Parts: sequence; structure tokens; C-alpha cells
Amino acid sequence: METMRKWNDSPSVYQFDGQLATCNLTPGEQVYGEKLVEVRGGEYRLWNPRRSKLAAAILNGLETFPFHDNSKIIYLGASTGTTPSHISDITPDGLVYCVEFSPRMMRKLVDLSQIRPNLIPILDDATKPRNYLHLVEKADIIYSDVAQPNQTEIFMENMRLLLKEDGVGFLMLKARSIDVTRNPEEIYREEESRLKTAGFRVLEKIDLEPYEKDHMAFVCGVSF
Ligand SMILES: C[S@@+](CC[C@H](N)C(=O)[O-])C[C@H]1O[C@@H](n2cnc3c(N)ncnc32)[C@H](O)[C@@H]1O
Repeated sequence: METMRKWNDSPSVYQFDGQLATCNLTPGEQVYGEKLVEVRGGEYRLWNPRRSKLAAAILNGLETFPFHDNSKIIYLGASTGTTPSHISDITPDGLVYCVEFSPRMMRKLVDLSQIRPNLIPILDDATKPRNYLHLVEKADIIYSDVAQPNQTEIFMENMRLLLKEDGVGFLMLKARSIDVTRNPEEIYREEESRLKTAGFRVLEKIDLEPYEKDHMAFVCGVSF
């Protein structure tokens, strides 16, 4: 007998036989080939931790989870919408502003936003948040997954400009995008120190192994 229960008292993330799932906002529609399961009249999408770093962080013990029904999120590096689609399930009355600079990825994201109206696609460069300042509102959450050498800078600049005072930031840091030759632990220490020096509070650090190699999720608040 398959069982479905809530994860960590979250009203919107579920565990189905040990796998994560979100309630499908668009029943019958898959986004990235994920499995759909029916439980007691509801349809759920299994959330693959090898495809989504947020799911990997949850399975590795994430405690800070500020995503609610009506949260406003600015998502940097939205790609074709894999993780944004699960956030879209979790925040049915909220908005996920999806910043992505690749036109190829953006085309799929635009298609996805046609059926998921809480996804707002923005074709722009996350290194230049002033470009899209007028298109977004101050966010409860900034989620950054851009895999660039300057990923910490990009995250901090968007946090400074676009996060509410009591908001939370998620930086999915990929060590190999910063330097493939160096020990990831050394890179994590340096980037954490940059975050703290700039006035951010590091609330949690979650290593994403075994789902993602050489990635650390930093969960941050602001203290300035
Ligand atoms: C690792 S993928 C993101 C995967 C996605 N977050 C998910 O979980 O479904 C990184 C994405 O960031 C985008 N990206 C990289 N640098 C960017 C920038 N400066 N501005 C906007 N998007 C950027 C890339 O085009 C790519 O689609």
C-alpha cells in the first residue's frame, strides 16, 4: 500500500513512499518527464532530487522553508523550468519571476508559463538586476542557480536590490564553476566568508551530495 504524507509539516510538499512530491497545479501535464501519481483524488508530481537542487537540499535536511501559497519569488537561472515548476505547485497563489538569459531555454519557459500563470518569464541577465527591477516586486525569496564564476556576486546583488527585509535567499553554489582545479571545501569557505563580510547571515549550509557533486546550498538572510 503506497503512503502519502506531508514533509516537515509543510502544507505543500509531500513524501510518497520516501520520494518527494508536489501537488500538480496542472493535472495531466508533466514538465520534465516526472512520474505523476494519483492519491485520494489528487494528482502529485514526483520531485527528482537529481534534477532539482531544492529537492536535493530537502532530502539532505533543509529546515528553512519559507515557500507559502502566496510567496513572491525571484528565480535566477530558471532554465526550462524544472525546479520553478515545483515551486509553482507549492505557491499556487504566488508568483515566480523566472530570470533566464538563454533564448533557447526561455522558449520552453514561455510555453510552460502559458499553462502555469504563476510563472513570469523574464529574458534577461541576472548580473544586471536593474534591467528587470521595473518588472518585478520585492520578493520573499531569492533563489539563485546560475552556475557561473561570479555566482555569489550575482546572488548578493539581487538580494540587496530585490529582497524584502525579512526575506530569505537560496544560493545553489557550484564549486566547479568557480574553479575546477581547487578543492570545493576551500571554495565553500571562501564564498561563505564573502557572504558574511557583505552582511548576509548564513542560516544553513547543505551539501547536495550524492544528488549533485560539488554543490553547496547556502540559505541566507540579511542583517543590514
Ligand atoms: C544549472 S541551470 C539551472 C537549472 C534550474 N535552476 C532548475 O533547477 O531547474 C543554470 C541556468 O542559469 C542560466 N544562467 C546562467 N547565467 C545567467 C545569467 N547571468 N542570467 C540569467 N541566466 C543565467 C543558464 O542559461 C542555465 O539555464
